[in-house]
Amino acid sequence: RHDDDARGSKGKKAFSEQESWEEQQIRKSQLQFGAQDRTHASDEYQFVFEDAVEFVKSAAMAGTDLDDGETDELADEIKVTLQRELQDQRKALPVYKFKDELLKAIAEHQIIIVVGETGSGKTTQIPQYLHEAGYTSNGRRIACTQPRRVAAMSVAARVAEEMGVKLGHEVGYAIRFEDCTSDRTVAKYMTDGMLLREFLGEPDLSSYGVVVVDEAHERSISTDILLGLVKDVARFRPDLKLLISSATLNAERFSDFFDMAPVFKIPGRRYTVDIHYTVAPEADYVDAAVATVLQLHVTQPSPGDILVFLTGQEEIETVEEILRRRTRGLGTKIAELVICPIYANLPTELQAKIFEPAPPGARKVVLATNIAETSLTIDGISYVVDPGFCKVKSYSPRTGTESLLVQPISKASADQRAGRSGRTGPGKCFRLFTEHSYAKEMEDETVPEIQRSNLASVVLSLKALGINDLVSFDFMDPPASEGLLRALEDLFALGALNSRGELTKTGRRMAELPLDPMLAKAIVASEKYGCSEEMITIASMLSAGNAVFYRPKDKALIADAARQRFFNAGGGGDHVALLNVYTEWEQSGHSAQWCVDHFVQSRTMRRARDVREQLVALLERVEIERRSSAGDLDAVRKAITAGFFRNAAQRRRDGSYRTVKSWRTVFVHPSSGMARVDPPPRWVLYHELVETTREYMRQVTELKPGWLLEIAPHYYQENNLDTPEPKKAKSHGQDAAAAVATEKPSLSLKDFFKA
Ligand code: CDP
Ligand code: MG
Repeated sequence: RHDDDARGSKGKKAFSEQESWEEQQIRKSQLQFGAQDRTHASDEYQFVFEDAVEFVKSAAMAGTDLDDGETDELADEIKVTLQRELQDQRKALPVYKFKDELLKAIAEHQIIIVVGETGSGKTTQIPQYLHEAGYTSNGRRIACTQPRRVAAMSVAARVAEEMGVKLGHEVGYAIRFEDCTSDRTVAKYMTDGMLLREFLGEPDLSSYGVVVVDEAHERSISTDILLGLVKDVARFRPDLKLLISSATLNAERFSDFFDMAPVFKIPGRRYTVDIHYTVAPEADYVDAAVATVLQLHVTQPSPGDILVFLTGQEEIETVEEILRRRTRGLGTKIAELVICPIYANLPTELQAKIFEPAPPGARKVVLATNIAETSLTIDGISYVVDPGFCKVKSYSPRTGTESLLVQPISKASADQRAGRSGRTGPGKCFRLFTEHSYAKEMEDETVPEIQRSNLASVVLSLKALGINDLVSFDFMDPPASEGLLRALEDLFALGALNSRGELTKTGRRMAELPLDPMLAKAIVASEKYGCSEEMITIASMLSAGNAVFYRPKDKALIADAARQRFFNAGGGGDHVALLNVYTEWEQSGHSAQWCVDHFVQSRTMRRARDVREQLVALLERVEIERRSSAGDLDAVRKAITAGFFRNAAQRRRDGSYRTVKSWRTVFVHPSSGMARVDPPPRWVLYHELVETTREYMRQVTELKPGWLLEIAPHYYQENNLDTPEPKKAKSHGQDAAAAVATEKPSLSLKDFFKA
C-alpha cells in the first residue's frame, strides 16, 4: 500500500499485518522514543536509548505485554537524558559566558551589532536568552531573520529541541509558502524575505518586540532592504530592540550604518588552521576535489570529518556519485566514508543527516554549497576542501537578464570557509587554487546581492510600502541607478506603475503575491482571460522547483516518453505540460503511486499543492475570482503572455532563437518538451534563461506574434515583429548594438525620479 499522503506521516505509519507482534513492539518503542532526537546523541544518551529498546525487546520475547506506563517511563528517561545533554551543550557555547553582559547591553541600547564566529551560538542562543529574560512577556515576538530557507528551518528545529517544545509551538519558522508558527510562537525564525513581506501588512512590525537581523554579513538583497526599513521603524518605536548579527566580517560598517551603534564582540574559539594551496591552477576543480577528499580519507587520521564547498546541487550530486563509486573499490581496510550532501533544495528529512555524527570508525564527508560557509555549523569538521568557486547571481540591467554564474569567491569567503575546519580542534584547509590567485586575483569582499540583481521585485515591494523616492532610501550600499531604472521600466511595462512611477491597482495586487513580478502579473491578468485556476496551478508548479520529473539512468527512455506525453497532451508548451501533470496528479487523488508510474517527483508535487493552497487564499485577498477556462488553452497562454511578453523569441533558420527586443541568441533547453517538437514553432515565450554552455530558455511555450501586439502594445510595435533575419549571422557585438538602436525607452526616465 502506498502512503498517498506523506505529509506529516512521521510516526503515523500504520503497522502492517505481516509484521510480528514482537517487531511491532520494537518499532513502537522506537517511534515512541523519538528516533529523530538522536541527532545530537552522545554515548550516554545512546546507551540509555539502546537500553530501553533492549528492555522492550526482551519483554516482547518473553511474551510480556508492556503497559503504557512502563514504556512512558522509559521514554521519559530518554528525554531527560537528552535534555540534560542539550543544556550542557548550550552552556559550552562561546556566547554563554557573555549572556549577562549581552543582556545588559541590550537593555541599555536600542540597537546592537553582535559579532561572533560562526558556531558561537548567536542564532540559536540569543533569541532564547531574550525569551528567558522576559522580552516576550508583553505578548510580542522575537523575529530572527535568515537569508537562507534551510537555515531558518534547521535552526528553528534545533531551538525547539533545546527548549523542549514542539516545532511550530513556542518556536517556529516561516519561509515563503510555509508557515510553521502558531499563536503561542515567541521565537520566530524566518527568511529575511518573509519579514519584508510582513512589512506590507504591518509597517510598524508591532507584533515584534525584538528583531534580530541575523547573518547580516551575507548582505542578501532582502537583508539590505530590511536594514533600511528596521532602522526607520526603530526611530518611531523606541520599545523595539534591534540586533544585527554577523560573522566577523564587516562589523564596523553595520555600526556606521546604524549611527555608531555599539558592537558586541563574542570572542571566538578558533584553533589554528593550516592552509595549503595548489602549486598550479586546477583544470577541473570537481576532479581535484574528489581526488583531494579520497587522499585525505586514506592518509589522514580519523576522527576528523571533511567539508567540501561546491557550487550547486548538480555538482554535489556528481561528486557524490563519483565518491560512492570510487570508495566501493577501496576494500575493507579503509574506513567507511559517509557522504552527506547539503543544498537549499535538499528535502528536509535528509538535511538533518549532516548534523549526525558518523558511526564509530567511519568518516563523514559533507558536500555543501555556500550554505555551510556561515549559515550552518557542522561539528567535527577537521578538513576543508575549497575549490574557490560559488554560484552567484548576476544581472545585466541593459539586457534585463539575470543569470547564475559560477565565479571565483572573495578572499573574505575563502577565509570564512577555511575557518570551518578549526572549530573543534586544529584544522586543515586545502585550497584548490594557487596562493597567487588568492593574493592577487580574488576580490576582498563579495559584492552585495543588491548590486547584482534584478530589482523589479524589491522596487515593487518598496512602492507597495509607500516608499516612492527610491533614490533617497537609506541603502547601506545603494544599487546602481541603472538597475533601479531598469526595474522601474519593467514594472511600468507590466502595468504595475503608472508613468509617474506610482503604484497602480494592478501593481498593488501584484505586490500581494509573493512571486516574481512577471509571474504575479500573469496571475493578475488571468482574471481577464477567465483562467485563474489554471494560472495558479502553473505558478505553483513553477515555484515548486525545477525537479518535477526524474530520470533514472536505467529507464531514461521510458522516463523521457512519460514526460513527453504531458507535453504532447495539447497546449503547445511546457507551461501547459506542467498544468497537465498537476491536473492528472490531482485526478489520481494525489497518489504517490501515480508519481512513480509517471516519473514525477512526488515531493515536488506535494510542495506545488501547498503553494497552490496559499495562492488560492491570496486570490481571495486580491479579489480575483477563481475561474477555469475549461480547456481554452489560448486563454491560459495569453495570461502567461501578459506577464512574460518580454521573454519572447523568434526562431531563426539555424534552429536557434533570437529574443525579440534584445536580440540575444538563445536555445531551447534540452529538458523542454519543445526540444522534441519538429518543426519547432516560429514564436515562443520562455519562463527564464539559464546560462551554461549556451543561453537556454527553460519552460518554453508557443506564442502567436499577434498576441504581443494585442497584450503588450506599449512594449512591441509592428516593426519589432517582422524584422527579417539578417543574411549573415551577426556577431554578438553587432547584435547588442542593434538592440540598443531598436529599443526606445517607452517613457521618460526622469519622470520617475521626480515622482
Ligand atoms: O549563529 P552561530 O553561527 O553563532 O551559531 P549557532 O547557529 O547558534 O550554533 C551553535 C551550535 O548549535 C553549533 O555549534 C551546533 O553545535 C549547534 N547546532 C546544531 O546542532 N544544529 C543546528 N541546526 C544548529 C546549531
Ligand atoms: Mg548563525
